[in-house]
Amino acid sequence: MKNFINISDCSSSELRTIIEEAKKRKKNRSGLNKSAPDIDKPFEGKSMAMIFEKPSTRTRMSFDIAVKQLGGTSIVLNPEGIHYGKGDETLKDTAKVLTEYVDIVMLRTASHKNLEEFGKHLGIPIINGLSDKSHPCQIMSDIMTFEETKGSITGKIISWLGDGDNNMSNSLIEAAGKFGFHLKIGCPNKYMPNKKILSWAKKNKVNLLVTKKPEEAVKDSDCIMTDKWVSMNDKVNKKVKKKNLKNYQVNERLMQKAKSDAIFMHCLPVGRGEEVTDNVIDGEQSVVWRQALNRVHVQKSIINWCLD
Ligand code: CP
Ligand code: NVA
Repeated sequence: MKNFINISDCSSSELRTIIEEAKKRKKNRSGLNKSAPDIDKPFEGKSMAMIFEKPSTRTRMSFDIAVKQLGGTSIVLNPEGIHYGKGDETLKDTAKVLTEYVDIVMLRTASHKNLEEFGKHLGIPIINGLSDKSHPCQIMSDIMTFEETKGSITGKIISWLGDGDNNMSNSLIEAAGKFGFHLKIGCPNKYMPNKKILSWAKKNKVNLLVTKKPEEAVKDSDCIMTDKWVSMNDKVNKKVKKKNLKNYQVNERLMQKAKSDAIFMHCLPVGRGEEVTDNVIDGEQSVVWRQALNRVHVQKSIINWCLD
């Protein structure tokens, strides 16, 4: 039994196993209906509880479909509708009760500490469906999507523009270390990756460039990625942050500075006209809908990995 909380918690070979199983299962179910189970139904008779402290479309849907395809069932719990550390029951006790009912828990939380606290008291695995610190499931889907389109990500150049200090950029830096790609982050000083992740990157010899110049960040890139300038629960002056990041918008001019066959990725939801223009996200180089689809396939192998 294992938890899936951060990319950095896993070894490179464990992460590679997850990606390869996702690719294999996707191929093997070609032609089946979207929610039809895989032939081997490894999760038959089992269930997942999902708790969302924040809104979600992709994570909610893709985990639900993933569990169906694995032959199991899922239940979504609204923290407002259950006893969830609100005074009448501690997180510890809720975790102990869920352990009796289901086989695995997925939590989307505004506080990474809640994940750790929950994980400590659960007798079953927990998966991070996004926290303020990391979004490992999304980055795994992005690795799979990159490799389906452009082959092995090892040694490739990936660029990240905009907010250099959010859950996605943290997980991407960890992935650069684990999968061995060159990561170039273009952001203003104020939104640079935080000290903790930079020191992890240094210790783990991540091939990382952080630059204020967006052109330098995207030069010769195989893939340009970005994310909302203001994340959920980001307690900032939105107007000021958006103004500070406006030179980091992914537009056709910047896309042309990358390799001619570079792809564009975004985890979604997107701020159209802010971090990316319509022409880019709707253009031929964009693979954003495939990223969303691959969430299903990667969640399946993450669940299987957690349950051994
Ligand atoms: N990318 C992603 O996690 O989307 P949701 O917020 O819709 O789950
Ligand atoms: N950084 C974004 C990712 C959304 C999937 C957020 O946390 O809102």
